[in-house]
Amino acid sequence: MPSLMQTETIAGGTASTELENGTLTLLHGALEKHGSAIAQASSFSVEDVVVTDLLTRIRSDVRVFAIDTGRLPEETLLCADAVAARFHIQIEWFFPQREAVEKLIREQGTHSFRESLEKRHECCGIRKVEPLSRALAGLTAWITGLRRDQNVSRTQLNETEPDLLHGGILKYNPLAAWTAEDVLAYAKSRQLPFHRLYGQGYRSIGCAPCTRAVQPGEDERAGRWWWESSEHKECGLHARH
Ligand code: ADX
Ligand code: SF4
Repeated sequence: MPSLMQTETIAGGTASTELENGTLTLLHGALEKHGSAIAQASSFSVEDVVVTDLLTRIRSDVRVFAIDTGRLPEETLLCADAVAARFHIQIEWFFPQREAVEKLIREQGTHSFRESLEKRHECCGIRKVEPLSRALAGLTAWITGLRRDQNVSRTQLNETEPDLLHGGILKYNPLAAWTAEDVLAYAKSRQLPFHRLYGQGYRSIGCAPCTRAVQPGEDERAGRWWWESSEHKECGLHARH
């Protein structure tokens, strides 16, 4: 396991106690209600690391799963190891189906997702959405790091909602009302492991070929699938577009 020194930690902020307490109460109720049939989905963004921290403050044996699409940046994997070490947890990794990835790459090359929205959804379908359905099998609820102000497609997000894309199991979005500043302040105050790409101008991080840094003043998801328009910036984990 790489040392924590390979991923930055972030220090110095002051979190809002009221917001934090409300979120802890929500998560406490969720863990009580679902027992071992609830798990957090983590992409190792600062939001997800904050959620893991909140969860482990309530219960040490929380379940955290992650989807390795095969195209994740190295920095994401380093952050995953730092998270596992910090919280003494074993990440439940899920991978895409080998046959489907081989077929996609053999028939369409390595960057078909750039050719059209349909082809981008095909790649996300194979590498993210299908593994997610296996990760959720047997769960009665899952937890995300989604925030309302991330994108136009997320403004209606609730803290708790039935996930109609996944059989109606409950989906908890505990940071729905948090702003990017709230998240950073909490991460700093707890000196949490911090994905290194944030230090290079990235504000939202997914697969390496589909994510780039953003300029000051640009929308925080502007670097995701930057060649598409903003209403399409979803991959199918949370909404179909
Ligand atoms: S995405 O739909 O555009 O890819 P985004 O990167 O904003 O999603 O992340 C939103 C939430 O989806 C994360 O907080 C996390 O709960 C979940 N998520 C995204 N990518 C992954 C992944 N690779 N593995 C597990 N969960 C993920
Ligand atoms: Fe494929 Fe890009 Fe979607 Fe990753 S984000 S699954 S590389 S299209």
